[in-house]
Amino acid sequence: MSRSAALGLFLVLMAAAPRADAETLLERGDYLVNHLMSCGNCHSPRGPGAASRALSGGVQVFDEPWFRVKGANITPDRETGIGAWSDDDIKRAITKGIRPNGTPLADAMPSAFFRILTPRDLDAIVAYLRSVPAVRNEVAAPIYKAASPPSPTYPLAAKPLSDADLADPVRRGIYLSTVAHCMACHARTSDEAPTDYIKAFGKGGRAFRGPWGETHSANITSSRVAGIGAWSDAELRRALTEGVTPDGRKLRPPMSDQVAYYRTWKAADLDALIAWVRTIPPID
Ligand code: HEC
Ligand code: HEC
Repeated sequence: MSRSAALGLFLVLMAAAPRADAETLLERGDYLVNHLMSCGNCHSPRGPGAASRALSGGVQVFDEPWFRVKGANITPDRETGIGAWSDDDIKRAITKGIRPNGTPLADAMPSAFFRILTPRDLDAIVAYLRSVPAVRNEVAAPIYKAASPPSPTYPLAAKPLSDADLADPVRRGIYLSTVAHCMACHARTSDEAPTDYIKAFGKGGRAFRGPWGETHSANITSSRVAGIGAWSDAELRRALTEGVTPDGRKLRPPMSDQVAYYRTWKAADLDALIAWVRTIPPID
């Protein structure tokens, strides 16, 4: 082997060597909270100076037939945040939607999806939440108007995955799309209709109203007529990272808020997500 060929092979091997170990628990937690799972989208203030108050309470109000709630203060402030909660308290709220006192959280908090988290990723999220600055901010107390219909188990998140699962590209795609909770918006046809992971898996239709007017979660099934089955992978990537559809339409909130997170994903994670989206069965 020539010297340059040997050097080339060496560089290829170096690039292919697993680097996952180089990522600390805290870095992994940061990536999960601030990139893959978009916690701040619901839990962080927006606008000038908001970065220093990250995770201290969200701006939008989730007003549904069953409740009126806002994203809680999840910084380590002991009085207005979750600083007094144990690690297990935090994990139970994230994966089961139950507060330390046993009362359920409104399912605007997408715990049904977070049940899939690997034990290591759950540890990483808790470590990260404990590391952010404590911010004192009293969020309006939740109002529960009526007993919510029981939230259906997300079929792909029936149990936690393992680290070994994440090494498999297909299972990784399932994992990422689940923690990113695409189906929280894309498996509901209206505000009144509870989430339906069987008949409405990717069908969309639910209305979102705000300063942008009214948008409806899109059909992201592989239907070539009603969904995105006719889009190429590159077109799907552009929609998810630049917020522009193949016909040049700019995606509006709340999808554009999500895009701000997806564009910061690692390339391999985005590839796995895109491969998964293509497998959503068609609904015309
Ligand atoms: C789609 C919006 C949304 C996303 C995304 C979201 N949450 Fe929440 N979360 C909420 C809402 C709304 C509540 C309050 C529900 C209630 O009061 O019944 C909540 C409550 C919580 C609570 C309970 C806090 C308390 O004081 O009751 C914790 C802990 C929490 N979320 C952590 C997280 C973490 C960590 C992430 C990301 C991994 C996350 N959430 C992502 C909407 C969201
Ligand atoms: C907070 C709700 C929400 C979440 C979470 C969400 N979406 Fe969306 N999505 C929407 C809405 C609303 C639209 C329509 C926006 C518009 O019409 O401008 C949309 C549009 C899209 C589109 C464009 C489709 C078209 O025909 O225009 C794609 C693709 C898409 N979403 C994929 C995803 C994927 C994949 C995920 C998860 C990784 C996801 N979305 C998470 C609400 C959401």
